[in-house]
Amino acid sequence: MGCLEGKVIVVTGAGRGIGRDIALLAAKEGGKVVVNDLGVDPEGEGADTGPAADVVKEIRAAGGEAIANGASVAEPGPAESIVKAAVDTYGRIDCVVNNAGILRDRIFHKMSVHDFETVIKVHLLGSFYMARAAAQYFREQESGSFVHFTSTSGLIGNFGQANYAAAKLGIVGLSKSIALDMARYNVRSNCVSPFAWSRLIGTIPAQSEAERLRVERMKAMGPEKIAPLAVFLASDLSREVTGQIFAARMNEIFLMGQSRPLRGMQRSEGWTPQTIASHALPAMKSSFYPLDRSADIFGWDPV
Ligand SMILES: NC(=O)c1ccc[n+]([C@@H]2O[C@H](COP(=O)([O-])OP(=O)(O)OC[C@H]3O[C@@H](n4cnc5c(N)ncnc54)[C@H](O)[C@@H]3O)[C@@H](O)[C@H]2O)c1
Repeated sequence: MGCLEGKVIVVTGAGRGIGRDIALLAAKEGGKVVVNDLGVDPEGEGADTGPAADVVKEIRAAGGEAIANGASVAEPGPAESIVKAAVDTYGRIDCVVNNAGILRDRIFHKMSVHDFETVIKVHLLGSFYMARAAAQYFREQESGSFVHFTSTSGLIGNFGQANYAAAKLGIVGLSKSIALDMARYNVRSNCVSPFAWSRLIGTIPAQSEAERLRVERMKAMGPEKIAPLAVFLASDLSREVTGQIFAARMNEIFLMGQSRPLRGMQRSEGWTPQTIASHALPAMKSSFYPLDRSADIFGWDPV
């Protein structure tokens, strides 16, 4: 018996890339799947119902159950309609995988208000709209699982992604808050930070030789490698797991850290800007984080 037998799972942005493989595995594991995808280009323009419909066809051909949905997660009404489609068609909802995403990479001093807001809307607001719409059902049935997609762009850092990093770290705060607020209703919320070759990665500017080589290595990381972790978190196999951040990269899985105090200093008379400079700074400086990017921390080839 599959680990999602009897469960209804909504996967946003499931027409392509990582979401598509999550939808396929969820259906294989017995879940009834709402395959949501607006069918936009990597920057979020256009709309096409084709990719979601193709994934549904594939699931049905393999004997699974799925419906396609072409609504946008980036507006509250349409996001609510995605959750409603699950409940109207299958009578319940057990998991939301907040995977839909776009990129509008720009160096910070050239990033427009529109580029910033558009990325925040799809990732952070979209994840909130979806979670908020499902929360009422989860609360009533006293069960449910949220799987949100974050990124090492936010958890660690990357060039040209202030909009995306802010959204993705915002999603970490959203997930932890949901985990805290809804634990009393047996509702869980976790984050996945994936590494996988998809068209979104194809938009990463690769100027230096080292960056070009890194992109070549990333091409070997199939999106199907992320699906088992997402499906595990959706299912009751992870019933004791909530409030966590995982990363997945080919055959590697990581538990990521969460922020805690690193060094503490105190002066009985309190601080002045000058004593912070003369006393606290020398004590803390050795623990400062360098300006690392994701590739500096995940510097070895994926296994
Ligand atoms: N691929 C990676 O290495 C990587 C790394 C870090 C994080 N992520 C995250 O993983 C998730 C999936 O990314 P991917 O690489 O598979 O990208 P992808 O472009 O292949 O798929 C994203 C899908 O989301 C859909 N989408 C975009 N806006 C939408 C909206 N408003 N409503 C509904 N659907 C919408 C797109 O049409 C697309 O099919 C994203 O959240 C992304 O930020 C991916």
